[in-house]
Parts: sequence; structure tokens; C-alpha cells
Amino acid sequence: MSDKPSLEKYQAINFSQKLSLFSEQWAPKVIAQMNDYQIKIVKIQGDFSWHQHAQTDETFIVLEGLLRLDFRDASVHLAAGEMYVVPKGGEHKPFAANEVKMLLIEPQGVLNTGDSAQSERTAINDVWI
Ligand code: NI
Repeated sequence: MSDKPSLEKYQAINFSQKLSLFSEQWAPKVIAQMNDYQIKIVKIQGDFSWHQHAQTDETFIVLEGLLRLDFRDASVHLAAGEMYVVPKGGEHKPFAANEVKMLLIEPQGVLNTGDSAQSERTAINDVWI
């Protein structure tokens, strides 16, 4: 499941179907790539670590659940069907009281825990599903 699957040329990519293939949390899976950007699905619950991405913005699109994106001076609440773009360099910390299923859009190679030291939350990159 970690290598890029050979995609059917005219095959739709279905979020629900992809989400049904795994249950682990905090482990983003790549479901598509557009130029240098990857579209990932991830399930999260609980608190993440404060981090930032000096080189890139990061897009969050919530599919299920309620996500809170914490910033040092405010928070943004996202429900299913809502999205937010975290500007590059901005410190942020996702939080979900109950499980959230969401999409992430970011350049290939971006580490989920950002520019700071790796932690237990640091996920392996380029895992396709
Ligand atoms: Ni981030």
C-alpha cells in the first residue's frame, strides 16, 4: 500500500472507499498527486504538536467530524464541507475531540510535524493507498 498504485485511467477516486481501507490515526495516505502537490486523506483524534512549515501553505478540508485548528492567537473551527489554508510559516496545531476524517493538500515531501524535530506523531511520507 505504500507504493503509488497504478491508477485506472478513467477511475474516480472515492474518499469513502479510500477511508474504509485503514483505521490508523495521524498517518496521512496519498490518494492523488497534481504536479508537485499531493492530496492526502487522514484520520485524526486528539491533540497534535505545535509546528510550522516555513516553505509552504497547508490546506485542510474536513470530510467528517469537527476540526479545530489552533493558532497562537486564535482558533478556526472546521465542520464537514469546510476548508482552511494555513499560511506558510504560521504556527498551528490541529485538534479533534472525536475522530475527524479530512483531506490535506500540500507539496510532496512536506513532513506532517513541520520544520521542528521529529516526534512520535511524525508520519512516513509518500504512503499511497
Ligand atoms: Ni501542518
